[in-house]
Amino acid sequence: MQRSSRSCLSKLLPIVWILAALLVEACSDLRGRRSTDWPAASGGPGGQRYSALGQINRTNVQRLRAAWTFEMAERGDPETTPIIVDGTLFAYTPELAVIALDARTGHLIWRFSPERATGAPRVAVPTGPSRGLAYWSRGRERRLLAGIRDRLYALDPDTGQLIDSFGSGGSIDLRSGLRGDGAGHSVFMTSPGIIYDDLIIVGFRTLETHPAPPGDIRAFDVVTGKLRWSFHTIPHPGEAGYETWPTTAWQYAGAANNWVGFALDEQRGIVYAPTGSAVYDFYGGDRPGDNLYANTLLALDARTGRRLWHFQGVHHDLWDRDFASPPTLVSVSRGGKQIDAVAKLTKQGFLFLLNRVDGSPLFPIAEMPVRSSEVPGEESSPTQPAPALPAPFARQRLTRDELTQRTPGAHDWALAQFARFRSEGPYTPFGLDRPTVLMPGFDGGAEWGGAAVDPKSAVLYVNSNDIAWTGQLAETALNLGEGATTYMTQCAMCHGVDRRGAPPEFPSLSNLSSRLSVSDITAVINGGRGRMPPFPNLEVGLLENLVSFLLAGTDPARAAAPGPDSGRHDAPPVLPGVTTLVAAGAEGRNERYAFTGYKKFLDPDGYPAVAPPWGTLNAIDLNTGQYLWTVQLGYYPELAAQGLDATGTENYGGPIVTAGGLVFIAATIYDRKFRAFDSASGLLLWEHDLPYAGTATPATYMVDGRQYIVVCTNATRDRRARQGSAYVAFALP
Ligand code: HEC
Repeated sequence: MQRSSRSCLSKLLPIVWILAALLVEACSDLRGRRSTDWPAASGGPGGQRYSALGQINRTNVQRLRAAWTFEMAERGDPETTPIIVDGTLFAYTPELAVIALDARTGHLIWRFSPERATGAPRVAVPTGPSRGLAYWSRGRERRLLAGIRDRLYALDPDTGQLIDSFGSGGSIDLRSGLRGDGAGHSVFMTSPGIIYDDLIIVGFRTLETHPAPPGDIRAFDVVTGKLRWSFHTIPHPGEAGYETWPTTAWQYAGAANNWVGFALDEQRGIVYAPTGSAVYDFYGGDRPGDNLYANTLLALDARTGRRLWHFQGVHHDLWDRDFASPPTLVSVSRGGKQIDAVAKLTKQGFLFLLNRVDGSPLFPIAEMPVRSSEVPGEESSPTQPAPALPAPFARQRLTRDELTQRTPGAHDWALAQFARFRSEGPYTPFGLDRPTVLMPGFDGGAEWGGAAVDPKSAVLYVNSNDIAWTGQLAETALNLGEGATTYMTQCAMCHGVDRRGAPPEFPSLSNLSSRLSVSDITAVINGGRGRMPPFPNLEVGLLENLVSFLLAGTDPARAAAPGPDSGRHDAPPVLPGVTTLVAAGAEGRNERYAFTGYKKFLDPDGYPAVAPPWGTLNAIDLNTGQYLWTVQLGYYPELAAQGLDATGTENYGGPIVTAGGLVFIAATIYDRKFRAFDSASGLLLWEHDLPYAGTATPATYMVDGRQYIVVCTNATRDRRARQGSAYVAFALP
């Protein structure tokens, strides 16, 4: 008995030892490899930009310091939020190569650029924002889905190699299947697609002018690249919403596209897709009606693309009031019950909170009467929606009392300018007679950086721009040559009728010949750059005439110079121009009015001509619709040196929030700071210099038990600053 039990034990012992050793190893492995991903640019499918990590928290954030920096000597501004999976960080370079970095050290693991993969040399690589990648896995299969310009690539995350079996040789041409053969379409994937099961759902950026393709929202099979569904944001005959357009509009209307990305309710299988304006952005004489589903939050069945409900934020948009901010999912408490909601922020400074399942408003939304357009042929909407709560997070009406007081001279100048403007609050249509104030300006309010929400408290954090811009329409004249005509219809909107642009956002094109060669200019026009969309649709002859017009300042055919628009706001409403457009015309098409150019209302020294704050960060309790706090975000170093530091500045790229009680945001253009605020009080707890402005939304993750915060930095928004771009990661020492 004894013997046998001893022999049994002695037989078992080694097994017990092995098991124990395995257990210890597994535990230490777990501890050693403790890691938390940031698997989507917006933190996760719900777009919350929230992390449950709390290693870095209110008590120790002061000790946060730079862990590594990855410099990139390329031009362009990717605006990327990296994704981090299993200790590897995936992101874009400014010229839109995909890079994989060791998330602990910032060391490059691999780099993929389509130019290299296809061997096609380019004069200049077109750049533009690419705000993040999408990651998919099933069992052992793993894929990165990378939008680069007009294509979607599938890459092996381990090697950066193309996955040949996806689409055609590893990529899909996003131009095809929209309208016609697709070759001339301007399509640029600026935001990541969203993964649902084995689908990737994508949108794209396109032109703001005719002819733009329709902004179909599409789902592709992650494995094969085959199209699985397509939703027409400009409805075809027989589809709901078709009645909100002229009958043939589906054949010529364009855009109404999703360029800012999505949020997904994974459990219910609902994808939330906000859309932008329909072309032409500022004159809608050829598209009478509400224009569904432009400027709309769409709730689609993620499996089929079927529309479940929709909410249109701007009817018949005439202001380029895109839904420029991605949606955020949240759960709020109402009368003791939890309600799943979706929050939608706007450029206008509104926050719409809707029931996620049926789209019903959780704070009442009223249709407010607005001024009607006086421009001939225009039928503006008599009302626009506005929520009762929360109050707007940006000023919506500029009055004399809100003009700059920075210096007496600046104030007097602003007063004189203001006297010439029309300033009658939100949704005042642009007129022909004088500039109209748009407050907040064309860049929001809320922008593509998105909002962060703490799921536990249902507090939402959003940064906002709070400065004024102006806009005006001008009647176009006949008799222009082809080059000037193309310029007026396609380019003047950004570069101004006088070709002086609105620097630094929209560069001046005067004296181009001293800077750029014909082939440089052609490359920029065809491929796009930064915020400028590509124009691949211009025929060769047309392009040649356009380029010579740009270089000579007169049209080779007609020698007719563009109309005078001398100085900032002195433009008389005279615009030599156009009656017909380049694209195939359609009935009812009317191009009689053109936008004279985006103009920021700046004082003679280049500072906003409105009183501060010029940029803010806001915390809004979504249970009550009340503000927890608002702080100025950013400063101009040279003004701060004179004691004017509480201004806030323009800011791009959003916040993230963590369980450590912190809101991290960079975003400010001029002070180049990275900041952490107490999420409960708005108190600034930490700030750190960045090599360039952190104009992108950060990400946070943990590898080997250490929490990091990383942000993409870039100098292109402040041309006076040292130029460059880098990813910078921070961690506790
Ligand atoms: C939506 C606004 C927009 C439109 C429309 C637009 N551009 Fe641009 N363009 C820009 C921006 C922004 C830049 C600066 C890009 C950068 O360097 O990041 C730019 C840059 C350029 C440059 C390079 C300037 C330089 O100094 O390097 C040229 C040339 C140019 N645009 C020509 C055109 C022409 C021609 C058209 C019409 C066919 C056009 N653009 C339409 C926004 C626009």
